[in-house]
Amino acid sequence: MTAPRRSPLFSRLWHGADYNYEQWLDYPEVLAEDFRLMRLAGCTAMSVGIFSWAVLEPVDGEYTFEWLDGLMDELDRNGIKAILATPSAAHPAWLSKQSPEVLRVDREGRRMPHRHRQNFCWTAPVFREKITAINTRLADRYKDHPALLLWHVSNEYPSTPCYCTTCLEGFRSWLKARYGDLDKLNHAWWATFWSHRFTDWEEIEPVDPSSNGMMLDWKRYNSDQALDFFLHEAAPLRRIAPDIPVTTNFMASDVGLDYWKFAEHVDLVSWDSYPEWHVGDDVQTAIKTAFFHDMHRGYKDGQPFYLIESSPSQTNWQPLSRLKRPGLLNLACAQALAHGAMGVNYFQWRQSRGGEEKFHGAVVGHRGGEGARVFKDVVEVGEMLAGLADLAAARTPARVALVYDYENEWALNLAYLPRKAFKEYQGVCIEHYANFWRMGIPIDLISGRGGLGGYALVLAPMLHLVAPETAARLAEFVRSGGTLVTTFLTGWVGESDLVHLGGYPAPLGEMLGTDMVEFDTFGAGQGVSIEPAPGNSLGLTETATAGRYAELLAPTSAEPLAVYGGEFYRGVPAVTANRYGAGTAYHLGAYTDEAFLAHFYHRLSTRLALEIGPVHDLPDGVTTRVREIDGKRYLFAMNFKSNSQTIHLEEGTWSPIAGGEPVGVVTLEGFGIKVFTNGSS
Ligand code: GLA
Ligand code: ZN
Repeated sequence: MTAPRRSPLFSRLWHGADYNYEQWLDYPEVLAEDFRLMRLAGCTAMSVGIFSWAVLEPVDGEYTFEWLDGLMDELDRNGIKAILATPSAAHPAWLSKQSPEVLRVDREGRRMPHRHRQNFCWTAPVFREKITAINTRLADRYKDHPALLLWHVSNEYPSTPCYCTTCLEGFRSWLKARYGDLDKLNHAWWATFWSHRFTDWEEIEPVDPSSNGMMLDWKRYNSDQALDFFLHEAAPLRRIAPDIPVTTNFMASDVGLDYWKFAEHVDLVSWDSYPEWHVGDDVQTAIKTAFFHDMHRGYKDGQPFYLIESSPSQTNWQPLSRLKRPGLLNLACAQALAHGAMGVNYFQWRQSRGGEEKFHGAVVGHRGGEGARVFKDVVEVGEMLAGLADLAAARTPARVALVYDYENEWALNLAYLPRKAFKEYQGVCIEHYANFWRMGIPIDLISGRGGLGGYALVLAPMLHLVAPETAARLAEFVRSGGTLVTTFLTGWVGESDLVHLGGYPAPLGEMLGTDMVEFDTFGAGQGVSIEPAPGNSLGLTETATAGRYAELLAPTSAEPLAVYGGEFYRGVPAVTANRYGAGTAYHLGAYTDEAFLAHFYHRLSTRLALEIGPVHDLPDGVTTRVREIDGKRYLFAMNFKSNSQTIHLEEGTWSPIAGGEPVGVVTLEGFGIKVFTNGSS
């Protein structure tokens, strides 16, 4: 754990919500009622002050902390901790009026009006000064407050670029530091293409998608800018209150931030999860959500994370948000725990009375009181969390890992491939991940920038951008006995987005033991069959359909495991395996259907004797996860189908956490979850 020494952060499972107290200052009866309800709901940590700037500093330089003092004291009196935010995510209108340069400029050079939130420029000196001033005061005032648990820096940093003069100058300086001189930059960006050569740094304007290299660097720069701003915000907090850990809430989708890099600078990873339950297939939604939980656990190398926002009922910004079916809230919260959470919070505690989020779900709705179904569901979650306290620091051991790389995602999205529209890096990663979820085999998400040594199997789908160090790390992993799976589109460009010459997957070609000679693409309803090669060493027996991408492989040393069954390339290898050192590298040259992926990974897991979780042959929609602390293991069994299903636990091993004899056959209700334990701590 990297939390500061004296923090109780990992001492229990936290439960709470975003509490926008500042909206209710004129309603004292609401405040009294809120604390009564928080106690009923088993709340232990509330996020406060997130959007409070206009109430904390109503006039430039005049601070009004008294209401926040009262709130902090009231939290403490009720035994509830504060996750105290810095207010940069929504600054007051007077600041925009007085210093318009705090507002972002769009790519056409227009300064944006004061509206919405997260609308500020990362570099504007006056904004940085104002945020330092208020954060310093917050830290000075509350550093020793007994309620203070965690700093919540800003809110959901975006990566929206700003094109103001200072930000563009910043980009040019960033480029100077990266390339040193313009010749190197012109080469890295292949700038002779369409006469894009630059002769002066001032000529560089990052508004040209035809220059893939430039746009990739612009994305990197904006990600770095957000991080730089975060470090600026966190500096006074860390200086004045070094014992209070710092987080900022991440998001699931690709928002343009390299969270692997960002996570190195937070003490705790926290994230906001808003799955679309009951809109499509709940099993797919569960898999996707599990993937993101594992991703956030992965950011700090397995350290438990905080699910710091989630909707207790409906989410009003989604195209469609359905009522959570009975049991679902508890299941969704337990899922976070199963994947490594050390706390579960909601957005929001009390439904707002006006504004865009007035109909967003909340623990306490407009009707008020504790009678609503959602409130009772939240009480139930609170009880579950209270009963599992020692899980907070528990780890989630895994022997399989999946590499997820943001720079790779950006490069892929920027590339104009013969199949321009569909890239779906994240979707393909989730399709590979899904197989392990369905088998109940734990899996980590990793950046690929660290060591791979502890894993038996590493998946690196669609790793289009491969820097020399990444290639070396993957090769070393396989050479020393690891098993690697790569797919179509692997190893085409290097870190500046310059294509690797000599044929793809150039930097990995020797390890994969194959060349990729051509690749075909398919539209909807098109495809080609893939047939297992007779007697192939992995024991593949199923025929598959390839769609979207089909690479025509020419093995140099690899064994063809499956070949195309049609088109003019009938018989050409589509899937290969190559012994390399003490390990094996598999390459799936085609985008295959789900059934084939399941078959492939089932064969591979059996071959590698991967410890399947404690439950074998899981029914569709059910999965298990184990968390472990000091030799004590917790088994989560979760059913994401609406009908009840039965699983078989290893005889004599797992007892219900409530106590009692070990059980064998377990029935999980529809959207049901059960937790078992084996052994004592
Ligand atoms: C985000 C924000 C919150 C709130 C929720 C609504 O996660 O961080 O402030 O707007 O969305 O779902
Ligand atoms: Zn700017």
